[in-house]
Amino acid sequence: MTDHVSLRVSAERAVAAAMTRVLPSALAGSDPLVRRSEHADFQSNAAMSLAKKAGTNPRELAANLAAQIPGATVSGPGFINLGLAPDAVWRRAAELAADERLGVPRSRTGSRTVIDYSAPNVAKEMHVGHLRTTIIGDALVRVGEFLGAEMIRQNHLGDWGTQFGMLTQFIDEHPEVDWRHSGDVSVLDALYRRASALFKEDPDFAERARARVVVFQSGDEATLALWRELVEVSAEAFQKIYDRLGVRLEPGDIAGESFYNPRLDGVVAELLDKGVAVESDGAICVFFDDVLGPEGDPVPLIVRKTDGGYGYGATDLATIRYRVEELKADRLLYVIDVRQSLHLKMVWDTARRAGWLPADVEVVHVSFGTVLGPDGKPFKTRSGDTVRLAELLDAAVARAREVIAEREHDLGPAELEEVVQAAGIGAVKYADLSTSRTRDYVFDVERMVALQGNTAVYMQYALARVRSILRKLPAGATGEIDPALPLHEAEKDLVMRLDEFGAVLAEVDELHEPHRLCAYLYETAGAFSVFFERCPVLRAESDAVRASRVALVRLTGNVLARGLDLLGLRAPERM
Ligand code: ARG
Repeated sequence: MTDHVSLRVSAERAVAAAMTRVLPSALAGSDPLVRRSEHADFQSNAAMSLAKKAGTNPRELAANLAAQIPGATVSGPGFINLGLAPDAVWRRAAELAADERLGVPRSRTGSRTVIDYSAPNVAKEMHVGHLRTTIIGDALVRVGEFLGAEMIRQNHLGDWGTQFGMLTQFIDEHPEVDWRHSGDVSVLDALYRRASALFKEDPDFAERARARVVVFQSGDEATLALWRELVEVSAEAFQKIYDRLGVRLEPGDIAGESFYNPRLDGVVAELLDKGVAVESDGAICVFFDDVLGPEGDPVPLIVRKTDGGYGYGATDLATIRYRVEELKADRLLYVIDVRQSLHLKMVWDTARRAGWLPADVEVVHVSFGTVLGPDGKPFKTRSGDTVRLAELLDAAVARAREVIAEREHDLGPAELEEVVQAAGIGAVKYADLSTSRTRDYVFDVERMVALQGNTAVYMQYALARVRSILRKLPAGATGEIDPALPLHEAEKDLVMRLDEFGAVLAEVDELHEPHRLCAYLYETAGAFSVFFERCPVLRAESDAVRASRVALVRLTGNVLARGLDLLGLRAPERM
């Protein structure tokens, strides 16, 4: 019955087959509406949704359908209850145990996704907002790749703009400020703050900085050399954070704003040519029927400013052309703060009108909410600055150290330090990933490193526990499944959950929602706990029972390990 598909799909097929026999052909292809249920292993609502159209009543239709499905019963107003035969469950478990992909099909094979994420700004600190895009993006890359997609990472660094006039001018005037050998972007951040403070206070400096922008943009070699150094030092510091976070971004993934400079003339010329953009008060603008300001006045996307400079909008139009025409993407993901949704809407509308964004290319704003401070307002330091990401990670690691040291363990100092790092960094990442991304959340270290609940540390302990059980097995404990064995409720529940792994990953990929994977792993860990409590493994009543349960323990370990890896979480062998 299992035929290398999940138990749910088998159940759907059984209902679908009954539908083709019982219903007129126009209705027979409808969704069999199979769900898990408290009252049966699976339950179908098909009879209730189709009875009226089929000219009958739900109970009668349900009875007719159920008659076609071995073991099916009808309850309530017309539910069809499907029970799983123990041997079918065991056979499916054996299939999963023998499959290195854990039953997950490569459903995205052949697809090419370009994903825009992280994108911090040069000479500025990465802040909590960049944390979200960076780790949500990383999880989506990992899941997409596991499903067979080619995931092309694009780190759209903010590495161009008028601020470089101010920065290079300040550097020239303050040779004593050593920003080059920092390896730490906070030194650059301090440089940025000092320069912009001076820009505000000192009109003469502001004048010189503005003049320097013109010099910079006209391609002055000395200024460009300085700019290049700023970008390089920043990129090195960003890389340190990526490595610390365990995020798979590399220098080769950088295609920052400056990368698109040579393409901007062409973008604007073509927009004018096609009549998509028009001149308005000396600027080149695109207008939209449905984008209006508070007074009903149209709000344009400015692609070229009155001073001839190109804006963020022009650059983002160039990203679309590049990603569709040159990178040949069929899916474009932009993992960006929800506050930029109007910007993206205008860019996409413009690109569609210009013919750069064909209908068969899917484009998604993977938007996310704000990280809030303890006061429930956007997270800021006491002085009103954005909070440095590195500092938050330090705080989480420090708290993880306390929490883990309190527990009994037999780890040596080096191993303990590894566990502490994995737990602290993991806590921050998991807290973010486990929250539905569109929601705001409060950055609360205490909750993040908690040992109980849907947290990284809980999940890491759960996996370490599974591994420790496996280590205690006598040598040669195989893990062969015997489908003829009776099936305990807790075993069935565990297998049914493990069997959903592929469906959950497909959902994560389709909806770009990593929190679904977190919830799934948490529930699976819970199902394992119940199983382990009720179904003795080492002291099982027979060798055959022990072997089957060993297989389930091993399979659970593999699913949890794979799942945590897809979230970008490190999982220490022992904790
Ligand atoms: N650098 C921008 C920021 O820090 C994000 C850029 C996002 N990507 C893009 N293609 N617009 O807010």
